[in-house]
Amino acid sequence: METGRGGIVFLVLSALLLQTNCADTEYNVGIGIADITGPAAQVNMMGYANPSQTTKGIHLRQFSRAFIFEDKNKNTVLFVNLDACMFSQGVKLEIIRRLKSVYGTKYTERNVCISGTHTHSGPAGFHQYLLFSITSLGFVRESFDALVQGIIISVERAEQNFHPANLYVNSGELLDSNINRSPSAYLFNPQEERAKYRYDTDKNMTVLKIVDADGTPLGMISWFAVHCTSMNNTNHLISSDNKGLAALMYEADINGKDVLPGKGRFVAAFAQANEGDVSPNTQGPHCLDTGLPCDFNHSTCNGRNEMCIAFGPGKDMFESTRIIATNQYKKAKELFDSATTKLTGPVDFRHTYTDMTKQSLEGGRTTCPGAMGYSFAAGTTDGPGAFNFEQSSTSPSPVWNFVSHLIKNPSAEQIKCHHPKPILLDTGEMDFPYAWEPAIVDTQLLRIGQLFLIAVPAEFTTMAGRRTRDAVAQSLMAAGFTDKPIPVIAGLSNDYADYVTTFEEYQEQRYEGGSTIYGPNTLEAYINVYKNLSKAMTMGSPVAPGPNPPDLISKQISFLPPVILDRAPFGKSFAECTQQPGAVCKQGERVTAKFVGANPRNNLRLEDTFLKVQYQVNTSNFTTVYTDAHWETRFEWESKGLFESEVTVTWDIPLNQAPGNYAILYYCDHKELGGNINLAEGTTQSFKVVNSDKKFATSKMDQYQKKLERKEQLLKNQNEILKGKKGNLNILSKRLNAQKDSNTV
Ligand SMILES: *[C@@H]1O[C@H](CO)[C@@H](O)[C@H](O)[C@H]1NC(C)=O
Ligand SMILES: *[C@@H]1O[C@H](CO)[C@@H](O)[C@H](O)[C@H]1NC(C)=O
Ligand SMILES: *[C@@H]1O[C@H](CO)[C@@H](O)[C@H](O)[C@H]1NC(C)=O
Ligand SMILES: *[C@@H]1O[C@H](CO)[C@@H](O)[C@H](O)[C@H]1NC(C)=O
Ligand SMILES: *[C@@H]1O[C@H](CO)[C@@H](O)[C@H](O)[C@H]1NC(C)=O
Ligand SMILES: *[C@@H]1O[C@H](CO)[C@@H](O)[C@H](O)[C@H]1NC(C)=O
Repeated sequence: METGRGGIVFLVLSALLLQTNCADTEYNVGIGIADITGPAAQVNMMGYANPSQTTKGIHLRQFSRAFIFEDKNKNTVLFVNLDACMFSQGVKLEIIRRLKSVYGTKYTERNVCISGTHTHSGPAGFHQYLLFSITSLGFVRESFDALVQGIIISVERAEQNFHPANLYVNSGELLDSNINRSPSAYLFNPQEERAKYRYDTDKNMTVLKIVDADGTPLGMISWFAVHCTSMNNTNHLISSDNKGLAALMYEADINGKDVLPGKGRFVAAFAQANEGDVSPNTQGPHCLDTGLPCDFNHSTCNGRNEMCIAFGPGKDMFESTRIIATNQYKKAKELFDSATTKLTGPVDFRHTYTDMTKQSLEGGRTTCPGAMGYSFAAGTTDGPGAFNFEQSSTSPSPVWNFVSHLIKNPSAEQIKCHHPKPILLDTGEMDFPYAWEPAIVDTQLLRIGQLFLIAVPAEFTTMAGRRTRDAVAQSLMAAGFTDKPIPVIAGLSNDYADYVTTFEEYQEQRYEGGSTIYGPNTLEAYINVYKNLSKAMTMGSPVAPGPNPPDLISKQISFLPPVILDRAPFGKSFAECTQQPGAVCKQGERVTAKFVGANPRNNLRLEDTFLKVQYQVNTSNFTTVYTDAHWETRFEWESKGLFESEVTVTWDIPLNQAPGNYAILYYCDHKELGGNINLAEGTTQSFKVVNSDKKFATSKMDQYQKKLERKEQLLKNQNEILKGKKGNLNILSKRLNAQKDSNTV
């Protein structure tokens, strides 16, 4: 009896203790997600700088994922991850203005970091510097507004969704998901430095795990260096590419498949790191005509750069996107589930604006006013250059025609400063009609416990990122930081100032070196700044705010024509279904429907969708099971003459889709003469989804596939072990030989 009672008391006590332990959280975290999908027609995509790559529909919607971190003393940082090519200073200035008007001084340019995933399949035109909007016919207000509105909504949602939380960090290797696309430049780095690393790209993914007091997952941020260029420059559908899809996969996994994209509680962000020279096209560059590997040093085929293109790992760009996304999602989940390094300590930030054109370095060296090298025009193996830099009136870009006669020849000083870069565009010495590239950039360091986010406004190469991380860690420890710092490069954050290579890589002047705009000492200058920020943070001292960047949004030029009018073909009406799906479709098949369309720029349908796949449970209950944000659907828009257009909706029916009746809906916002925009809704007839006979065969095949993958992994492991043993043997035999030599002597 007695012992029994004691046992119960003990149990109750320990349960209470456990509870107080669990409730003991280190931080408050607010998390929000919102739609930022820009104009889905006629707007150039940001990234490949290919004027003919314009939006013609949606494969995946773009999202803004906002995370507010607050310590016990209410020190706050805001990290926003965007499905966009990068961030833009012009957008940041607008975001900060709006946040200040709502939240006062809680959010400033100093403690807000907004980072792009680097998808090359999102609408362009949101930059304030001229060079980045030449191929988009200048500034595109619709793109800019979609970003601003979506980011603000995601932050508002995060503000309304605060939880006491614990944070954990984990990191581990993800193989077969990235390669170096300028390996010959990497080889310019000193042998001793390269010897410290096994690979010529960073394979580590770092994951920040966010859980509430009970350990329930709230959110996740992962950083992994890989270009979001699985979708290539022939793609016209808005897509968040491999990182965006990884996020949707993880979110669907935790929130449940029934929760529509962007609507769930758990938010997963796949953020960018030092991806400057890192490609997802893991089969590497090959010549389009011969199929042979390209010239190693120049990435050319018979001297032609446009013939050398990197592919893989899938059979087409969709499959490649899916594979690289799946790899990132699975690795992030594994690291999340096994994370044990708990973050403790303050939230903090240091930020300064840095004039990158005027940095002084040891030995009288300096950085230079911005300039792009010739290799910039050639592009990369992920997307050969299509930037038309010839000073001719036949350029497809009216912006280029507008400014090209003003192109300056670089000064002798500028040529010397950038040596050995052959200067193609002297952007730093041109300011008509406004600055071509930034001079004053955001440089920022965020701290969450032991985690340090080095927010860089550019694309750092692998080695540039490693040097920066090491310098920050050393600087923190030299200044007295006692724990083990976890430095992470948060790439493409706050602003965009092209690429950053190491001094040595710069000497080869491949694309990344040609796009390192402040000259050969760019990296060293950045590292000095981040060292200062690290030191100041550790010492608790302030940093100088630096010179203010210009706000150029009111000066933007734009040549993109507005939508004038939509018209339906004679005898037809808007949103009318012109091609019905088959009455019966099998799981695993693709359903296609066509409608009389209208320009999707009339209404971006943010937080909404252009299409719905509805499951008809019965005559009074229709449930939306897919939207235009799903991987399984495609919304394609095609112009048919001056004012008419056609919309094609496809739905790839998953093998496990519930059998039953379905229909596809299309929302058609069309513009009338005079400017009014009206909505027409169209729907297909209802069609039946039936069981696939293939399903069982496929699940068997899946099982075999998995077995094979496991065996392959085993083999790989054994191979590694063998390699290690061989290495040891080599060393032994060398030693033996040496001994033999010394014996004979
Ligand atoms: C990768 O992560 C592991 C485990 O955290 C760490 O030991 C290693 O130093 C990291 N490698 C690089 C190149 O950062
Ligand atoms: C690439 O260039 C380096 C010198 O920079 C040279 O040593 C090497 O042989 C070249 N490789 C090929 C395959 O041309
Ligand atoms: C883009 O990918 C498609 C396959 O999806 C391929 O047919 C095409 O050649 C690729 N084009 C470029 C320029 O990479
Ligand atoms: C770093 O800090 C030192 C001391 O405050 C200052 O003199 C120097 O200009 C700073 N350098 C950079 C690059 O910010
Ligand atoms: C339709 O299904 C819902 C449940 O999903 C049920 O509540 C409703 O009564 C059904 N209506 C008809 C007309 O069968
Ligand atoms: C309609 O059906 C769906 C799927 O069966 C179900 O989840 C939902 O609750 C139903 N809605 C209503 C109003 O009955």
